Amino acid sequence: MSGDTDVVTNQFTLINEQETINLAHAFAFACEATNAVNKGLIVYLKGDLGAGKSFFSRAFIQNFLPGQKVKSPTYTIVESYKTSTVTIHHFDLYRLCDPEELEYLAIRDLLMGSYVALVEWPQKGEPIFPEADVVIELQHPQEFESENRRVEMTASSVLGGAVVEQLMMNMRK
Ligand SMILES: Nc1ncnc2c1ncn2[C@@H]1O[C@H](COP(=O)(O)OP(=O)(O)OP(=O)(O)O)[C@@H](O)[C@H]1O
Ligand SMILES: [Mg+2]
Repeated sequence: MSGDTDVVTNQFTLINEQETINLAHAFAFACEATNAVNKGLIVYLKGDLGAGKSFFSRAFIQNFLPGQKVKSPTYTIVESYKTSTVTIHHFDLYRLCDPEELEYLAIRDLLMGSYVALVEWPQKGEPIFPEADVVIELQHPQEFESENRRVEMTASSVLGGAVVEQLMMNMRK
């Protein structure tokens, strides 16, 4: 017997940038409402170049810090933002040559206490980067209009499940 729990993937179609911003804000709201921000939440953002991972991250960060300039972490690997309640770590692992490089960034110290980690190109951090609580995959299928995106959101831990469930509940209202 595998003992696997059911994995539910929620799909969204976002027809313009504003809808991506709305989803990022709703996701941030669900992180707060479930207290996940105080427990430490790891969110993988998957998808091709230009799919909208950084765009989603910026909207998520600006939900907590309106007007905050969000720098690209492509060269620094991580940029951190401290709000009154939580620290948001925005990672982009695209330029990692070897996942071992993460040891120099002391990620274990970063991923402690109250934090949310948004991780672009998480595949590059395997197997060193800790597992995700939520995986968000952004796609820009060829048949879609220029601004349309498809999003798949999957919880992969109990905490992640609570956040996604809260998000879906709020979206049904
Ligand atoms: N619905 C949408 N959601 C998100 N981005 C959109 C949407 N429509 C258009 N875009 C545009 O797509 C671009 C996505 O770029 P972004 O830098 O977020 O991609 P990325 O996935 O982070 O790529 P990379 O892997 O290079 O870091 C943005 O400039 C944004 O303006
Ligand atoms: Mg990016």
